[in-house]
Amino acid sequence: MDTMDSATLISSLTTEDYIIIVAGLAVVAMLLYVVKGSCGSDSRRKPAASVSRAPERPKLPYTFLTRQELKQFNGEDETKPIFVAIRSRIYDVSSRPDMYGQGGGYNLFAGIEASRALAKSSFEKSDLENPDLSDLSFMEKDTLLHWEQVFTKYEMVGEVVADEKEKETKSREYEAKKATSAAQQKTA
Ligand code: HEM
Repeated sequence: MDTMDSATLISSLTTEDYIIIVAGLAVVAMLLYVVKGSCGSDSRRKPAASVSRAPERPKLPYTFLTRQELKQFNGEDETKPIFVAIRSRIYDVSSRPDMYGQGGGYNLFAGIEASRALAKSSFEKSDLENPDLSDLSFMEKDTLLHWEQVFTKYEMVGEVVADEKEKETKSREYEAKKATSAAQQKTA
């Protein structure tokens, strides 16, 4: 493309186009920043001095929790691990109490199904308390996928279930799968 074409293209952009481009670039830049694990100075980060070491805890068995049960893993009780759920997968983020513990910049994601808020890059109560993903835009779905990638560095320790009935079904399926793979390993 020559300089004339670029100039024509730029001058044809509307204010709305600019907002979409700038917002898109900002989200992509932040995700790249987080995925690469680089650190910078910003108001959401706590100074290194406040980073406390996560206490050693016995490993919990794979668990199925309702959204109500998940709330107790919000970093308030220091004897419990800190969990964040994304698309019903529960991740143990206890290794980063500086971010997810009490007073941490991202504590508001602790103990909840955070998918909607993460997808919408939102800290609004209405998004933090709403697990509905059916109305996400294409870009928001893409943002959520990137966040799922980021959270794969944490151990997945369980799944969010709708109610006791689903908990029973999923626990049974999980135990059956475990028994099958143990039996297969024995015969192999
Ligand atoms: C001005 C805007 C923002 C800046 C400058 C920023 C900056 C950062 C930085 C530097 C980190 C890495 C911290 C570290 O690993 O020590 C981080 C992590 C994180 N950010 Fe942001 N952030 C911003 C907005 C947002 C928004 C809008 C959301 C979602 C609603 C968000 C969610 C997160 C989450 C969940 C993590 C932790 C990921 C992990 O566990 O590794 N941030 N952010």
